[in-house]
Amino acid sequence: MFLKRLECSACGREHEWSRLQNLCGTCNKPLFAIVDLAAVSRTLTRETLLAREKSLWRYREVLPLPLDVEPTSLGEGGTPLLRARKFADDIDLWIKDESLNPTQSFKARGMSVAVSMAKYLGATKLAVPSAGNAGGALAAYAARAGVEAHVFMPSDTPRANVVECRELGAHVTLIDGLITDCAAEIARRKANEGWFDMSTLKEPYRVEGKKTLGYELAEQLNWQHRKSPRARDLRSELPDVILYPAGGGTGLIGMWKAFDEMETLGWIGKKRPRMFAVQAAGCAPIVRAFEAGEKSAAEIPDAHTIASGLRVPKAIGDFLILKILRESNGGAIAVDDEEMISVSREVGASEGLFICPEGAACFAALKLLRLAGKIASGERVVVFNTGSGIKYLEAYDRG
Ligand SMILES: Cc1ncc(COP(=O)(O)O)c(C=O)c1O
Ligand SMILES: [Zn+2]
Repeated sequence: MFLKRLECSACGREHEWSRLQNLCGTCNKPLFAIVDLAAVSRTLTRETLLAREKSLWRYREVLPLPLDVEPTSLGEGGTPLLRARKFADDIDLWIKDESLNPTQSFKARGMSVAVSMAKYLGATKLAVPSAGNAGGALAAYAARAGVEAHVFMPSDTPRANVVECRELGAHVTLIDGLITDCAAEIARRKANEGWFDMSTLKEPYRVEGKKTLGYELAEQLNWQHRKSPRARDLRSELPDVILYPAGGGTGLIGMWKAFDEMETLGWIGKKRPRMFAVQAAGCAPIVRAFEAGEKSAAEIPDAHTIASGLRVPKAIGDFLILKILRESNGGAIAVDDEEMISVSREVGASEGLFICPEGAACFAALKLLRLAGKIASGERVVVFNTGSGIKYLEAYDRG
């Protein structure tokens, strides 16, 4: 295995990977997996990837889990990167369609890797606070791994997520409150119950699964380049702009980590996309903090939005998200719920995709950023559709 150690993303303190870990023992901030990239590069090359399986485990060397241990997998990752047809206007627009993952959202990526590691390190009861999709993904991978899943969701979570978790055999608790209240309930009970806490960024490996979004983007765009008559070299060209619907921000943080790893591996150059965090107007802590020039984000008191995945009033990785937005010369932007609903139908009718409200927020943000002159014509933009619209019938069904 190529995992060397865990390192605190804030204070740098090293931690052992070989036992179950949550946050940094010194400062209570997220831990990152540090991979031995020099060793990785001996077996993982862009050429060897061509012959590998489609799932995210194709990047096995940069993921945790000893090579002789079978991952808990349902075929996650390897989702299509589709060129937008009509919505694109005069930009080079691509849609990363994550609704094709197991349990119909990108949460499958993080949970496949995190459940694999938790099981390997001896956990038997996994608990997660969830806006909906993470719960469904945990329920599925826990079932597959033969361990217990305990899912805590706000009582107004979309019905599909709740039913899905139950059908997958999870223990479901609905809480009259927000995801932060669900997290507090787990924190209060976990020691007594023997639960391992799988909250976003409170264990080190969901972000490792999510980082494969970055690897896939580079790989998929590279293929486009090689086919193109203008292709000059084998270096993959990352997009100019990425629009990501940020709740806890795991995907954004994971992709940024992947870009650095790929640069070390010599697969990409120094160029980075301008990263934009898209949030809902009723819950936009990152947008507020970004605009105020803050390094961390204050909790939003009355968080509300139909985009349940974006109803995250306080993110433990806020300081990491804000740093990435600034370093990449990107930004943060908020979108109204009505705008999400109407743009969803526009995307559905023009591109053939029934997108989730979180994905719709990114398309709405794209329009706003174009109007504001923050994305120029001809630029290559990737928008994330992080899940399926099918899970949000209450929000979309207007008769
Ligand atoms: C469909 C969807 N999109 C986006 C998000 C936000 O993801 P993250 O917490 O990685 O920022 C979620 C989280 O629940 C989600 O379910
Ligand atoms: Zn620390």
